[in-house]
Amino acid sequence: MTIFYYTGTGNSLWVSRRLADNLGGARLVSIPGIEDAAKAAGSETVGLVFPVYIWGVPAPVIRFVSVSSALDTGYVYAIAVNAGQVSNTLVQLKDVLARRGVDLSAGFQIRMPSNYIPWGGPGPVEKQRKLFGLADEKIADIASCIRERRSLPVEKGPLWQRIVFTFIYKMTFSRVPAMDEKFWVDERCNGCGVCSRVCPAANIILAPDRPAWNHACDQCFACLQWCPQEAIQCGRKTPAFERYHQPEIQLKDIIQSRTKTRSC
Ligand SMILES: Cc1cc2nc3c(=O)[nH]c(=O)nc-3n(C[C@H](O)[C@H](O)[C@H](O)COP(=O)(O)O)c2cc1C
Ligand code: SF4
Ligand code: SF4
Repeated sequence: MTIFYYTGTGNSLWVSRRLADNLGGARLVSIPGIEDAAKAAGSETVGLVFPVYIWGVPAPVIRFVSVSSALDTGYVYAIAVNAGQVSNTLVQLKDVLARRGVDLSAGFQIRMPSNYIPWGGPGPVEKQRKLFGLADEKIADIASCIRERRSLPVEKGPLWQRIVFTFIYKMTFSRVPAMDEKFWVDERCNGCGVCSRVCPAANIILAPDRPAWNHACDQCFACLQWCPQEAIQCGRKTPAFERYHQPEIQLKDIIQSRTKTRSC
């Protein structure tokens, strides 16, 4: 079994790891780490685990699923990791896959703490722990479905959300790469370069000792959330908001997930 994952702050990696444990083992492959998506090798059972961005599928995941031969296989499922509003994400993914002749056999949503800091922090630690507990229970159920290779309708949000938010997704999608215009660094930046190393889009250069964003952003928020100095801000409100990354995922895991490998 292979699980292809994409993550900014570790929630989707944590879900992938937990799922692999429940399945008794699976190969985890980071999408930004794949050198040639078209040639990526999968297995008989392939999973896609990724966060919901602006009520839809992140652009790097769309690019991957549109070309990867790993999905031309027996059983493909997906998990959309979100902060409470999966909306139409899995329907969108199913459509994208159908257009290239791949059937998404099942699509699940899992709620985790929010990393979308422009709207606030991740919430109290107790609430986060509760979400991890609920996620763990759901992952066990998902693992049973996958083991039995069940075909299930994809999970989705209420109709009004799917109509309104899909419209917003479509309106904003092409503007996402330039949304890094809102990032800035405060005086705490010490030029360590972590922001550049965690970026899945190679969108940050140090110029010469402070980050500069190049408008090819995925909006994963890894740079802001993993900055050890908490020096990266987005707009005016984020200095007041708490940072987040999944507590069991470490900086080295994210950096490693960005390293290009030919073997997959
Ligand atoms: C740009 C952006 C947009 C987001 N949009 C949504 C959304 O539409 N619905 C939702 O429930 N969560 C949304 N989120 C929250 C993430 O999906 C959620 O926190 C996810 O668990 C992050 O996963 P990761 O840690 O693997 O990156 C958004 C996050 C980002 C960074
Ligand atoms: S990670 Fe933070 S402290 Fe390090 S270079 Fe980037 S902004 Fe500066
Ligand atoms: S610049 Fe920051 S938010 Fe944009 S893709 Fe890179 S790490 Fe993610």
